[in-house]
Amino acid sequence: MTEYDNIILERRGRVGLITLNRPEALNALNLGMLQDVVAAATALDRDPEIGAIVVTGSARAFAAGADIKEMATKSFVEMYLADWFAGWDRFTAVRTPVVAAVAGHALGGGCELAMMCDFILAADTAKFGQPEIKLGVIPGIGGSQRLTRAVGKAKAMEMLLTGRTIDAVEAERAGLVSRIIPADDLLDEAMATAATIAGMSLPVAMMAKEVVNAAYETLLEGGIRFERRVFHSTFATADQKEGMNAFIEKRPPAFTNR
Ligand code: CAA
Repeated sequence: MTEYDNIILERRGRVGLITLNRPEALNALNLGMLQDVVAAATALDRDPEIGAIVVTGSARAFAAGADIKEMATKSFVEMYLADWFAGWDRFTAVRTPVVAAVAGHALGGGCELAMMCDFILAADTAKFGQPEIKLGVIPGIGGSQRLTRAVGKAKAMEMLLTGRTIDAVEAERAGLVSRIIPADDLLDEAMATAATIAGMSLPVAMMAKEVVNAAYETLLEGGIRFERRVFHSTFATADQKEGMNAFIEKRPPAFTNR
């Protein structure tokens, strides 16, 4: 298995677990972290044995942002020519469902990475924020777009303009996270949730992810038509026949990803 400097990659059954592991920098997202996360997620995405991915950090921090020390002295032209942060687009191209399990700080790029996952399970210790304005910058890994879609304009504006962080309760109320879990149970619950997803038909789970993501990117009419067509295409899978027959025959389905 490939060794990574900034993450720990594990396969537990059909679930791939990526643990961000730069404790000395509260998992700040530097270039090495970007490369490791993208490489690991891409490898898991290509692995037919993997049906879901969990991304997590430490009890203290999911990730405290992009690495400020790595960026501090850069010029506009350097950032522009490098197209800084563009590499994260490859993380959002992953088709396997990805669950973020967030405890502690999820700030700046950390909040953005959590939002790039398909949904967020939050420990009761989680804190979310886009504090870039305090550093004289704005979010650069999609935070202004994804946060606004997740929590609406008023809360996103306040968070981006003041840098205020929100706790897990406020994040759940605002729709940023799907559920709050006691911190000690977070990883077990995230792995169990991911295992549930991995127990579904992988192509159909990918289709479900694709149609929900379309809600972000398309107008309603086009999105509804797209959903209907993808729904029709599930009837080309053996798993649709198996899933519906198993229900009728009152037995658990045995999906084969075909
Ligand atoms: N980049 C680089 N290093 C970071 C970091 C970051 N984003 N966040 C924390 N660290 C480092 C600290 O410098 C410190 O290192 P040293 O021990 O070498 O000094 C170490 O991690 C521990 O951090 P603290 O001592 O600050 O820990 P704390 O518990 O007192 O505070 C915190 C925790 C409130 C999260 C604080 O670290 C903090 O405010 N971090 C920065 C948060 C931030 O501004 N994030 C946005 C970054 S910009 C961005 O993300 C742009 C974008 O859109 C992608």
